[in-house]
Amino acid sequence: MKYGRIVGWGKYAPARVLTNDDLARMVDTSDEWIVARTGIRRRHMAGEGETTATMSVEASRAALARAGLLPQDLDLIILATTSPDYFVPPASSMVQDMLGAKCGAFQLQAGCTGFVYGLATAQAFISTGLHKNILVIGTETISRNVDWQDRETCVLFGDGAGAVVVQACDEPTGVLSFVLGSDGSGAQHLRVGIGAREVITPEVIAGGGHFLRMNGREVFKFATHVMGHAAAEAISQAGMTLSDVDLLIPHQANLRIIELAARHLGLPMDKVFVNIQEYGNTSAASIPIALVEAIEQGRCKEGDTLCLVGFGAGLTWAAAVVRWGVSERPFAMSLFAPIARARTQAGVTLRTAQTVAGMQVTMARHQLQKRAGKAVEVAKSAASAALLPLYTRVDKWHTRDKRE
Ligand code: ACO
Repeated sequence: MKYGRIVGWGKYAPARVLTNDDLARMVDTSDEWIVARTGIRRRHMAGEGETTATMSVEASRAALARAGLLPQDLDLIILATTSPDYFVPPASSMVQDMLGAKCGAFQLQAGCTGFVYGLATAQAFISTGLHKNILVIGTETISRNVDWQDRETCVLFGDGAGAVVVQACDEPTGVLSFVLGSDGSGAQHLRVGIGAREVITPEVIAGGGHFLRMNGREVFKFATHVMGHAAAEAISQAGMTLSDVDLLIPHQANLRIIELAARHLGLPMDKVFVNIQEYGNTSAASIPIALVEAIEQGRCKEGDTLCLVGFGAGLTWAAAVVRWGVSERPFAMSLFAPIARARTQAGVTLRTAQTVAGMQVTMARHQLQKRAGKAVEVAKSAASAALLPLYTRVDKWHTRDKRE
């Protein structure tokens, strides 16, 4: 049996930041209320030109560089998101193309739980020996689906991306167990009400049907109940107990939900990673961004056991136990990473140059064709003008001949 070890990671947060005070100038809320009820202080907002695809590419490039891999080394790309660039095509294919990868890619929608679903899917492909290197991404541009006049939702969400490279290995590191859950009977508690059931019409737009709507209290009850249970089940499936867990990395939706889940599990808060104050709820991007920050802060050490757990729209939940270990080739990696980063950058520059050059050649061809077409037209009308007196004379002779 093969294990899916995390060998690369990266995140992207848009530069634009919205503070609670900024929000208090937009809707009837306050920094005190938001901090006390959610723990959120700031969130990042996608700027002009930033979308789920572009942010995914940024996070993925960092993850590939850290893994010492090129986009062409990937066997599969899984992108978890609830806010793709378009209904169709899937943003996963846009990411595959922008990276220059030559592999299958698909988009996965399981609400905020999507990244853990993606990790579990990657592990399934790897454990069967089908694939070796899989890129799993969680990204949201959720700010574009938020009603900025609805204080009950707009204070909660933010944008960003997180990505990991999962690689096949023989040692029991990486994803050791996972639990995936769904209860669609609670679907109405969290939804964006457009799609095949509710097509987009001016009336639907006027009623705000295209915005994310949430029954906060119901989601809160569901979340506090399910987070602890899912984590406990994944830990037990991995043949472990709670004392084996070094760090819990929960979905960052609300600090109170996280604290209640930790209490339910009997886990002290110093074993729980929290960064909600900086990002708010970034839905499918929240767990990978938190994982990357935990790694960057030195909170994931060789041999540590991590438990990732989330809940979200669907309603869904998911948990995974991950044994942290990247030491198989630390020296090689430390040498190779900058080289790979440079190669990736060179590849991207080359692709961009090729595209630009291709466009210039096409434009030049069109211009030449246009100019040649014009020249032919001019020559034709000049020839016609030159021949006109001749035609007229021939015509006259012809008419005279006929008369005679
Ligand atoms: N500022 C000020 N007051 C507010 C705000 C706000 N931004 N939002 C709501 N209020 C008011 C309400 O109107 C209500 O007023 P009322 O008592 O006069 O009716 C009062 O605050 C309390 O409202 P509650 O809903 O009871 O507040 P609660 O303590 O439950 O907190 C919250 C609300 C933060 C939304 C909470 O219910 C929650 O976090 N729920 C889960 C949300 C979640 O996790 N969503 C995403 C999950 S899936 C995903 O990530 C896509």
